[in-house]
Amino acid sequence: MSEPAALRQLLAEADCLAAEDQVRAAITAVAARISADLAELDPVVLCVLKGGVVFAGQLLTQLRFPLDFDYVHATRYGNATAGGGIEWRAMPSVPLRGRHVLLVDDILDVGSTLLAIADACQSQEAASVRTAVLVDKVHGRKARPGLRADYAALEMPDRFLFGYGMDYHGYWRNAPGIYAVKGH
Ligand code: IMP
Ligand code: MG
Repeated sequence: MSEPAALRQLLAEADCLAAEDQVRAAITAVAARISADLAELDPVVLCVLKGGVVFAGQLLTQLRFPLDFDYVHATRYGNATAGGGIEWRAMPSVPLRGRHVLLVDDILDVGSTLLAIADACQSQEAASVRTAVLVDKVHGRKARPGLRADYAALEMPDRFLFGYGMDYHGYWRNAPGIYAVKGH
C-alpha cells in the first residue's frame, strides 16, 4: 500500500483534464445517444468492474427506459493480445442469449479487455453487443486499427489517467474528475 500523504500529493499535483461538472455534462450527452439507440431494445447493461462503476452509476439514472443491470469482472493477465488471456472473476448472471448488451467501462485504452468481454458476450449468442466508455484514449496503439467504442463520453490524451472510476495503483477511483498523473 502506498503512503496516504504521497497519494494526496499525487492528486494535488495532477493535471485536472475534466472537472466534475464537465464529466457530468459529457455523461448526460452520451446517455441521450444511448437512449436514442437502445430505449426500445430491453437491453442488458453490464458494468465492467471495477473501473466502470462510477460511470455506470451516473449513466444508469439517465437511461429512462426498461433495462436489466448486471456486472462482469474480468482482467487481462500479462500482455496477452486481443481475445486471449482473459481471467474471469465474475461472469454475467443474466442469460445473454438473444439480448442486446451494453458494456459499460471506464476507458478504452488498447481495447483488448473490452474486445475479449464483447467476444464472450457474442459467444453466448447475444443479439448485439455495444460498448460505452467514459474515456477513449487517443493514440495509435488500439488492438485493432480504428477500434472505437460505440459510445465514448470523452476523449483524452495518451497519459496515465485516474479518477471517476480509473485507478492509480488501486487508488483514487473516487477522485471527482479526470486527472492525469504529473509528468505521465
Ligand atoms: P485496455 O485493455 O488496454 O483497453 O485497458 C484495460 C484496462 O486498463 C481499462 O479498463 C482500465 O482499467 C486500465 N487502464 C487503461 N488505461 C488506464 C489509465 O490511464 N488509467 C487507469 N487505468 C487504465
Ligand atoms: Mg477496467
